[in-house]
Amino acid sequence: MIIGVPKEIKNNENRVALTPGGAQELSKHGHEVYIQTTAGEGSGFMDEEYVEAGAQILPDIESVYAKAEMIMKVKEPIEPEYKLIREDQLVFTYFHFASYEPLTRAMIDNKSVCLAYETVERPDKSLPLLVPMSEVAGRMSIQEGAKYLEKPLKGRGILLGGVPGVRPAKVLILGGGVVGTNAAKMAAGMGADVTIMDLNLQRLRYLDDIMPANVNTFMSNEYNIRELISTHDLIVGAVLIPGAKAPHLITRDMLKDMRPGTVLVDVAVDQGGCIETCKPTTHQDPTYIIDDVLHYCVANMPGAVPYTSTLALTNATLPFAIQLANKGWVKACQDNRDLALGLNIIKGDVVYDAVAEAFDLPHVPFEKYLGNAH
Ligand SMILES: NC(=O)c1ccc[n+]([C@@H]2O[C@H](COP(=O)([O-])OP(=O)(O)OC[C@H]3O[C@@H](n4cnc5c(N)ncnc54)[C@H](O)[C@@H]3O)[C@@H](O)[C@H]2O)c1
Repeated sequence: MIIGVPKEIKNNENRVALTPGGAQELSKHGHEVYIQTTAGEGSGFMDEEYVEAGAQILPDIESVYAKAEMIMKVKEPIEPEYKLIREDQLVFTYFHFASYEPLTRAMIDNKSVCLAYETVERPDKSLPLLVPMSEVAGRMSIQEGAKYLEKPLKGRGILLGGVPGVRPAKVLILGGGVVGTNAAKMAAGMGADVTIMDLNLQRLRYLDDIMPANVNTFMSNEYNIRELISTHDLIVGAVLIPGAKAPHLITRDMLKDMRPGTVLVDVAVDQGGCIETCKPTTHQDPTYIIDDVLHYCVANMPGAVPYTSTLALTNATLPFAIQLANKGWVKACQDNRDLALGLNIIKGDVVYDAVAEAFDLPHVPFEKYLGNAH
């Protein structure tokens, strides 16, 4: 198969969909890999490394789209890319269709085959191509939180791990899923006194078993949250209710119960945030202060560490890309239902229920294209 990797053109996006290592794997399977010049630069991968790995470099985005049977990207296509995508071309990337109708309409009109990272789903409902970004954001939440606790950055001026004779900082993590667990690991490793809250008792039992001794678990409810916020220095929002807006676990009136310089990192900001006073910020201007409480609410945290994020993402996407390249999308999706669930739009038909519902469009089951393989 001919695979094309364009350079991401969305503002401040430095990730790339394929590393030189990934290009080598695809080449080894007999596929032709074309990379747009400098596509990997933002993540630290130079054109020469791709060439050494067996890929070829193309001078511009137009030639990549013109050449490839499968396009591998990171972010959803944006307006200038709509017209470059051709009928029958397979596009494997994050799309998040339900949040943007013009993109959905454009991909229906160009009759491409859109396989979305975010809806590839395992039988246990986990989302293997979203997990890596949650791992990055969870770990980063503590790195950022520790930094903003410093006095010159308007925090309380407390060192996360303390020192001998001085107690460490107290970290409260709301939500014990992928983000919360990764945050807890980092905070615990830095020596903080960590509490992780969740609604799911099974999950709390599991975390209690695997976490180090400086991590405690606590049932999530308003009473318990109110009790803890006045004594904690760093609070991380990491809840998710699939398909719904995040609940406001910390409301505006609770800020007055916190000490000045408390730092709130609301990772769930991309789902509306679980802290009422949270509004999306950017890496250029990541924080703001309300009632002496510092808020960090960057909606694309992994964007700040493109080297790590690119490797984490491509570790997860590459096995699926190899299946798509080796078998073609029809056979690959017939053989792998997890991958088939990533199909969102096929040749003008919306085949993902939630996308059809979002814009009141007819829903065509993907079985129309795959037969009754599943
Ligand atoms: N800002 C970013 O850059 C970024 C990056 C990655 C993920 N995220 C977001 O982080 C959030 C968490 O993602 P995840 O992968 O950890 O999800 P997850 O599904 O693995 O975990 C969510 C956890 O929240 C718990 N929960 C639900 N309601 C709760 C409540 N009322 N109190 C306490 N816990 C509750 C669930 O039981 C679950 O354990 C999502 O909104 C995700 O979109 C943001």
